[in-house]
Amino acid sequence: MSFRLQPAPPARANRCQLFGPASRPALFAKMASAAADVVNLDLEDSVAPDEKAEARANAVAATRDVDWGGKTLSVRINGLDTPWWYQDVVALVEKGGERLDLIMVPKVGCAADLYAVDALVTAAERAAGRRKPLGLEVIIETAAGITHVAEIAAASPRLQAMSLGAADFAASMGMQTTGIGGTQENYYMLREGARHWPDPWHWATAAIVAACRTHGVLPVDGPFGDFSDDEGFRAQARRAATLGMVGKWAIHPRQVALANEVFTPSAAALAEAREILAAMEAARVAGQGAATYRGRLIDIASIRQAEGIVRQAGLVAAG
Ligand code: COA
Ligand code: MG
Repeated sequence: MSFRLQPAPPARANRCQLFGPASRPALFAKMASAAADVVNLDLEDSVAPDEKAEARANAVAATRDVDWGGKTLSVRINGLDTPWWYQDVVALVEKGGERLDLIMVPKVGCAADLYAVDALVTAAERAAGRRKPLGLEVIIETAAGITHVAEIAAASPRLQAMSLGAADFAASMGMQTTGIGGTQENYYMLREGARHWPDPWHWATAAIVAACRTHGVLPVDGPFGDFSDDEGFRAQARRAATLGMVGKWAIHPRQVALANEVFTPSAAALAEAREILAAMEAARVAGQGAATYRGRLIDIASIRQAEGIVRQAGLVAAG
């Protein structure tokens, strides 16, 4: 380990973030009863310009009136390039209930974007006399966002989570696709005439995970648009989990169980992690740093890998 230790991310489960437009308050009770760890009321791209003010009022009311149980409650504000974002922040902080946990900032492009939001949140919190400090979460979904991902991850002590937003990211990068996440037909390798489809989101995913792990932020995979394609969702989510992300968005309720399935350590994975820890404890007692587990090498790094799985299972069980 470097002299500078890797900070722990917030100790809460974030397997699934269920989104719904704040312009459809009829969905709020359904979102509150869904099995998602996080709910995100949206003021941004699922809300038409004419409905922004009403959606904002709905979101403010929902922070007070809806029973969100043990969920993390987040509201996605409009981007800093719009005329709406500052009113979103001021309304949520001044009029919203203390139940609100996070404000999600879309299309963040540099650390100064978060500095601006943090300054406004801080002033509004003091003016309103709020007791619980709000957290922030961001979406990396532009070329600037991914270019400055490390400085963004370090930009505010309020920052808890960072998501990859595949649709806007593809648009900003000029990628030739209208798909939201998942396999892209034209992104293939050829071997002996057969096509194989690598992951076009791999680089951005890994860059976000690295920035998040460096600065103690939760890395999250964003939307998978085709909510009729369960296997496609699973494949995308499994790749994200393998690369270190802790959860994924649901843009339809049927995706919640899929995300929970992928981001909850399985009983088999948990049992194996515990066996590895037990085998390493036996090795330590015997004065060894490395040992054999089911015919393969395990060593002290295996303890950290296994502890990650046990920790994640513990967060899920506690949630
Ligand atoms: N949260 C909770 N419940 C939802 C829901 C959501 N986001 N979306 C739909 N439902 C409910 C419906 O009300 C319906 O309930 P019912 O069986 O009691 O009638 C059920 O789930 C099935 O919904 P369905 O008819 O398949 O979907 P829809 O046509 O009502 O809505 C979408 C489809 C995609 C428009 C809608 O799911 C949606 O707005 N998703 C979120 C979009 C969003 O927030 N985007 C921003 C982030 S990318
Ligand atoms: Mg977006």
